[in-house]
Amino acid sequence: MRIERLTPALGAELDIDLGHINAEGAQAVYDALMAHQVVFFRDQEITPEQHIALGAHFGEIDIPHPVYQNHERIPAITVLENDENRPPDTNDWHKDLTFREAPPFMSILYAKSVPETGGDTLWANMALAYDNLAPAMRAMLDPLEAVHDIGCFRNDYLGPDKNVEAMNEGVRSNGAWVHPVIGTHPVTGAKYINVNRSFTQHIVGMLRAESDRLLEYIYQHIDQPEHQVRFRWRDNSVAMWDNRVTQHYALADYLPGYRCMNRVTVNSDNRAG
Ligand code: SIN
Repeated sequence: MRIERLTPALGAELDIDLGHINAEGAQAVYDALMAHQVVFFRDQEITPEQHIALGAHFGEIDIPHPVYQNHERIPAITVLENDENRPPDTNDWHKDLTFREAPPFMSILYAKSVPETGGDTLWANMALAYDNLAPAMRAMLDPLEAVHDIGCFRNDYLGPDKNVEAMNEGVRSNGAWVHPVIGTHPVTGAKYINVNRSFTQHIVGMLRAESDRLLEYIYQHIDQPEHQVRFRWRDNSVAMWDNRVTQHYALADYLPGYRCMNRVTVNSDNRAG
């Protein structure tokens, strides 16, 4: 398998047929994912069933997404379909679903239809961002914990009718969790920044103002091009990322154009010890 690195920070393009991958091929992709944090593939023809089978090589597939549209036949596939009337809300640096006790390990995003220009996605390497903090800042952040909840998913539950009962039910059913501000990768042992703009609410034990200032410092530190890779999609491209050690940001610069992606989310890493 050819592996072409895209930036010094993270990301590599691989050339393997994902629709017909075997156990050996999946292991090679996994090894590349651990080395590069996000891996990309071009010109893939994969059915929804093959998409699920691909994810199952790596771990347990997630249940249907709590707020996004699901595939009509295979609900475990999330359909991110956006245009003028359905604007995206993923143009914010985030890791997926960190309000859960065990946020997913990886996602596999398949481009069904992308605009002629625009709609790129960026990923950032949270281990590199951690390493690039000043030693005194690392020492301060290491013991801290933060509360995560559904954040702006409240908008999806509220809907145009401002259904507060549905929002409260969404808050209740998804819950909130406390995670370390600095995580440790179970496979590589790397320390990484583990807070994100979409779902982290505040740092445990701090007042809102103090927590906001500290989180904003971290977010601005993350948001440096040296930590990032930017991927230009084509129809039938695939991205696979390690959700533990990366954050991503999908540009919303293509409206009123149309963009449609299918996503399979893998909860557990069946190779991690
Ligand atoms: C996501 O946030 O998972 C979606 C990324 C994208 O649509 O590029």
